[in-house]
Amino acid sequence: MAAKKLRRIGVLTSGGDAPGMNAAVRAVVRKAIHLGLEVVGVRRGYSGLHRGDFIDMTARSVSNIIQRGGTILKTDRSREFQEPSGRAKAARALASHGVEGLVVIGGDGSFRGAQLLEAEHGVAVMGVPGTIDNDIYGTDSTIGFDTAVNNAVEAIDKIRDTAAAHGRLFLVEVMGRKSGFIALATGLAAGAETIVIPEEPVDIDKICSSLLAGLERGKASSVVVVAEGQKAGAVFQIAEKITQTGGPECKVVVLGHLQRGGNPTARDRILASVLGAAAVDALVAGKSGFMAGMLAGKVALCPLADASTKKPTIDRDALELAKVLAI
Ligand code: F6P
Repeated sequence: MAAKKLRRIGVLTSGGDAPGMNAAVRAVVRKAIHLGLEVVGVRRGYSGLHRGDFIDMTARSVSNIIQRGGTILKTDRSREFQEPSGRAKAARALASHGVEGLVVIGGDGSFRGAQLLEAEHGVAVMGVPGTIDNDIYGTDSTIGFDTAVNNAVEAIDKIRDTAAAHGRLFLVEVMGRKSGFIALATGLAAGAETIVIPEEPVDIDKICSSLLAGLERGKASSVVVVAEGQKAGAVFQIAEKITQTGGPECKVVVLGHLQRGGNPTARDRILASVLGAAAVDALVAGKSGFMAGMLAGKVALCPLADASTKKPTIDRDALELAKVLAI
């Protein structure tokens, strides 16, 4: 049976904002208009969806945003949408605005919401991976990851200057929720002495002895990159433990939301442009329930059921390499 011709689609950004989300919104809007569709933007993610907070988008609504961080559509983590009644309201709002398909730009939680909307109300949905955490199965990179890592590396380069001037040890906490992808990439790129991630057991004694050995080998400074989700307790507690275990005195820097802001890198803008357009193509082709990801340089559609539940694995070779290169 031929796929029903879509006339109107919606686009929303959901969960934590990620640099490049605007570039993805731009791609969805312009690719859809190019294909003859109408597009509405949903404000504040799923919160705006069940309130029917929609705006008509034109090619000009997305002018001058490809380079901007944040999201012009705003975002939210909606509690109401987690309830069946919230999703029913959202489906009614979509139907009353004649919206037949929805592109959801966000992370795994956002994809679970999209799946439920499809399963319970038959709304055609496509996901686009937008999160700095890079913790989504079915894509080599998520939109925002590259920018967040570059932000963290830039900050650590500055920390390194002052650390080397004083011969100090810094613990730098980076984001990533429960995964260590940001920490690993940041640590490797910034030449960290040690990288602490949730995927690996943390041995404070080992960290201390390796830091002390580094000092003995004449290192002028040390930087330990600590993922926020690691299992050894808060970064300030780790700092205390290191000092109590005979390690050097530690300075702690929590980079926090600095990592999520700023202009997206060219890499994130390109990824967002390609995946946003691919999501529209898939909807137009009658597909639903997939995420448009990028695997080995090619667009690949991954079932939302996998993208929202399976987890990519951490590159242990990269972790080992970081250790080798920190001698
Ligand atoms: O998922 C993106 C992320 O930035 C995580 O790395 C972090 O744990 C979380 O969001 C922070 O959430 P919030 O902005 O709500 O504090």
